[in-house]
Amino acid sequence: MSEAGVLSSTTGAAQAAPVVAICKAVKRFGGLTVLDDCSLTAQEGEILTLLGPSGCGKTTLLRCIAGFLTPDSGEILIDGRDTIPVPVNRRSVGVVFQSYALFPHLSVAKNVAYGLRMRATPAAEIATRVKAALATVSLTGFEERYPSQLSGGQQQRVAIARVLVLEPRVLLLDEPFNALDAKLRGTMQMEMRHLIKRLGITAVFVTHDQEEALTMSDRIAVMRAGRIEQLGTPEEIFDRPQSAYVADFVGASNFWEGVAHAGRVALPDGQSVATALDGPVRVMLRPHNLVLRAVGGEAAAWDGTIRFRRHIGALMEYEIEVAGGRMLRAVALRDDTIAALAGGDRVSLGVRDAAACVAFPPA
Ligand SMILES: Nc1ncnc2c1ncn2[C@@H]1O[C@H](COP(=O)(O)OP(=O)(O)OP(=O)(O)O)[C@@H](O)[C@H]1O
Ligand SMILES: [Mg+2]
Repeated sequence: MSEAGVLSSTTGAAQAAPVVAICKAVKRFGGLTVLDDCSLTAQEGEILTLLGPSGCGKTTLLRCIAGFLTPDSGEILIDGRDTIPVPVNRRSVGVVFQSYALFPHLSVAKNVAYGLRMRATPAAEIATRVKAALATVSLTGFEERYPSQLSGGQQQRVAIARVLVLEPRVLLLDEPFNALDAKLRGTMQMEMRHLIKRLGITAVFVTHDQEEALTMSDRIAVMRAGRIEQLGTPEEIFDRPQSAYVADFVGASNFWEGVAHAGRVALPDGQSVATALDGPVRVMLRPHNLVLRAVGGEAAAWDGTIRFRRHIGALMEYEIEVAGGRMLRAVALRDDTIAALAGGDRVSLGVRDAAACVAFPPA
């Protein structure tokens, strides 16, 4: 995203003061610049996700917010106050890591109580708060169990209760579901989102999984090599990506190469897409935005041959070879017409909604 875009979303007049504000953070490890002029805000009660490929700097940014790392330059504010001079244990942030890091020799209740004991909280208050925290994550009755006697999802909930019991102003979550199988992961994503929303906590969530980001987030910051490439709601990121990088990283995309002229790119099915670009472009065509029809002998305006198909539950996915040997991916609900299309079949292609296509400069 452009500098102006980041600034406008951090200083918009209608916005309340952000809970977390990162201003031009730079972090280098030796010669490697890992955070490169990162600016970002999280509003009260918002779930903000840092999304990007491995090594793009997500954990580094989270560790800077938590205070485990100090940026080389830039500011990190919580409730408008500079956090950099504040030691880790005095910051009102709670961190949930990918590995739950539970103490194996302590019971669930003692794991959750640990942080409060370290702060010399009175025993009666510890008991009340631990009980409430376990109820929050639906683990009432598990107090005396040990981590080894819990499922992965339950261990993850203990790790969350252990942080929530400290009543942090900001909750930081670094790929907290990575160790869970796909189904449980999906359930935990929904549970976690509901829980954070119910408690009204401001959360910064890290993932490299675009579906998880789309599920969990109020806004997503797509990161690329230490920079924020685009910041927006899941809908903005998915429907109006500002670069081919974002279009490619979030949701599968086909890129169709065309030529823009006088503000439009003609698509091979006869429709066209508006663009400010001129000359060669790549047009984002989401797989669900392609419509397939079987063709007989007649010539179709835009045709291809099915090279591969697979079931994805209620959907069918096809790879279709079009002119020039290019492959396009299409996804459709598995109705009778779609299910009848098989490898080797000739198909005619159309774009369902040309307005949902976005043109980018050539690679
Ligand atoms: N303490 C360190 N010393 C040197 N290099 C580091 C250090 N911590 C991180 N890096 C490097 O900084 C870059 C970003 O690391 P970071 O952990 O922030 O990535 P990430 O986006 O969280 O990736 P992943 O999705 O794999 O967790 C990587 O190239 C990594 O090797
Ligand atoms: Mg990481």
